[in-house]
Amino acid sequence: MSKVLVRCLLGLSALLPVAALAAGIAIIPQPRHLQQEQGSYTLDAHTRVEAPKDARSGEIAAFLREAIRAQTGIAVHEGGAAHGIVLKLDPAVQGDEAYRLAVTPQQVTISASTDKGLFWGVQTLRQLLPVAKAAQVEIPAVRIEDAPAYAWRGVMLDVSRHFYPVDFIEKQLDLLSYYKINTFHWHLTDDQGWRIEIKRYPKLTSVGAWRTEMDGTRYGGFYTQAQIRDVVDYARRRNITVIPEIEMPGHSVAAIAAYPELSCSKKQVPVTTAWGVHGNIDCVGNEGTFTFLENVLGEVLPLFPSPYVHIGGDEVPKGNWHECASCQALMRKLGLKDEEGLQSYFIKRIQHYLESKGKTLVGWDEILEGGADTHAVVEAWRGADEQAKALANGNRVVVAGPFYLDRLPDRLGVQQVFRTDIAGDGGDGAKSREANRAVFAAHRAQLLGAEAPLWSERANPYNAESRLYPRVLALAENLWRGDAHDDAAWADFHQRLQAQYPRLDAWRVAYGPEDRRVVKYMIAPNAQGGWQLQAQRGFDDLVNHYTLDGSTPGADSPSFTDTVAVPHAGTLKVVPFRRGLRYDDPSGFALVENLAAGKPLNLAQPPSPSYAAADALIDGVLGGSDFHDGRWAGWNDRDIDATVDLQQPTTIHSISMNFLRDTGSRILPPRQVSFLASIDGQHWTTLQVDKPQADFSDAAPLDYHLSYKATRPLSARYVRVVATRYLAVPADFPGGAADTWLFADEILVK
Ligand code: ACM
Ligand code: ZN
Repeated sequence: MSKVLVRCLLGLSALLPVAALAAGIAIIPQPRHLQQEQGSYTLDAHTRVEAPKDARSGEIAAFLREAIRAQTGIAVHEGGAAHGIVLKLDPAVQGDEAYRLAVTPQQVTISASTDKGLFWGVQTLRQLLPVAKAAQVEIPAVRIEDAPAYAWRGVMLDVSRHFYPVDFIEKQLDLLSYYKINTFHWHLTDDQGWRIEIKRYPKLTSVGAWRTEMDGTRYGGFYTQAQIRDVVDYARRRNITVIPEIEMPGHSVAAIAAYPELSCSKKQVPVTTAWGVHGNIDCVGNEGTFTFLENVLGEVLPLFPSPYVHIGGDEVPKGNWHECASCQALMRKLGLKDEEGLQSYFIKRIQHYLESKGKTLVGWDEILEGGADTHAVVEAWRGADEQAKALANGNRVVVAGPFYLDRLPDRLGVQQVFRTDIAGDGGDGAKSREANRAVFAAHRAQLLGAEAPLWSERANPYNAESRLYPRVLALAENLWRGDAHDDAAWADFHQRLQAQYPRLDAWRVAYGPEDRRVVKYMIAPNAQGGWQLQAQRGFDDLVNHYTLDGSTPGADSPSFTDTVAVPHAGTLKVVPFRRGLRYDDPSGFALVENLAAGKPLNLAQPPSPSYAAADALIDGVLGGSDFHDGRWAGWNDRDIDATVDLQQPTTIHSISMNFLRDTGSRILPPRQVSFLASIDGQHWTTLQVDKPQADFSDAAPLDYHLSYKATRPLSARYVRVVATRYLAVPADFPGGAADTWLFADEILVK
């Protein structure tokens, strides 16, 4: 039974009489043809649902009866009656997902030539029902003829970077299905966690599903094969195909942590906590790698009836293959000129294996760089030019690039999702708009549709819904209609969207604002001491709950709306709530007393505007493990030379500064750090020079806390820290020393 529907039942109050029609008709996605007629159909306990005798039709009828009961409280029974709801299989309704829905004062009829169409007709009927408990409800008389423009309407969840429990996934399937999204792409493996039980290789989950975070806590989880089967069947009942993604040959650190023999070096490594691209990949020169992958796929395929299997294939740095004797021997044996040829060989072998099992390979657009043949489905993520390349090559294409939901709504609003035309030329971002137009027109039939990926480095079960909704509703209509991208279509959609919010509220969905962030926290030192925490809120009814003892705030913790004064140092945690729903994991702020706080700061070179502003260096707030947390300032290919003016001679016991290493994101520790002090800002005393140990091969984020401790307190007005970067790195560091970063936080003076 649908958990969303149960939630709905609990969320609504007692039986209310619903007199006439509820608000106007507001269906998403908008049906292709909708004609409102005179009158309405009265649905009450006498209504019967009649369906064809086959198993799937019976299941659909039961789903409808349960949906009516959950939404209105009315128990309708099965069986034929003149005055009822009739589901009909009718070959005259052309199209795999097409349906007709006719509501007259006498009867409701849903007809389709397939069970898929029949089910979508049921979902449309649900949207015509009011959200209200009553003994009888009115369904407006309409005639609808409907079919989607695109066959592939998908959403991807990355459950590796953050894990989502089964009931969360099932709640999302309820919602996706309600809006006729028919594809759930389940990104089950990546560097930071392997999430699917494989019986032959138990360490994939006993080891590969768990990582140790920078603060020492363990994080992880996985789905058993029984749970996977349940989710896949839950999705099937809701017209959704589940496509598993097992990443290879890159994004495989979690598998390598479990079975080091998969890698070129065969070295034992931990499951990584670093986001980004990792050079530690599957060894293509070892036959054992293919045995392993085929055995894994051999267990995965029977769990997923989908004809498609996603194997990733993206972001594969070839450095290890270049250094590996087995990989090089294979390259010579096959007569390949470089490691790109090895990637082609790898993808081709996996594709042949999948085809031998009757499955079609899906991969990110890198699979086209030699390798996959035209039978493969290409998921275009690097822009319309890649999309055009794949289409011109003869492949079928699913578009993902414009719909990355990990971009927050202030950068990718509902309107942009709605108005992006996947058969358009790619807009200003595309190099070859003219050429794209021609290719898209000639190869329109190969364009299967699109999907919205939610990469989860920063998404988790608390904030994911605010990233998915309402943007998924815009995606659903975009792909169902295919042709509605103009101002009028947007205005019409936007109006219908407003009618969906009470439904999402009733289902306890923590949806986000349409074009703003849920909340953005900013903290700054107060002139009088302590700090001021400010919340820039995306909803007027959003409330922030906080604690100062490091515990996770709950709905009963102290709260504020826009600002709150934080009087003393400690660990501040804050969580946004709205309408009783928690909207995120806590944002944490490690507050420290700092003599430099709020004092004038002079930098020889400013930090990159993409990360924290220079003020973050002297705000008394320490950065965490995430370089993107708004606390870290970043310098791209530049050294740091920072001077703080304490404004008067000051007794100093220590000076320290933090640097972040996150090699997967090309953030290196400094090569050398000097601490200096001065009375006049002209003459400097070098207090200490540090050359921190750097391990470039270890990808885990690490905080380098470098500090000078005075043996006897000194007096100075100016404090200066100079950090120089590496101009050369070990040969095996992917990409070399160019385009690397220094990330620094607090210049802490005590
Ligand atoms: C991807 O975003 N690496 C497919
Ligand atoms: Zn190798």
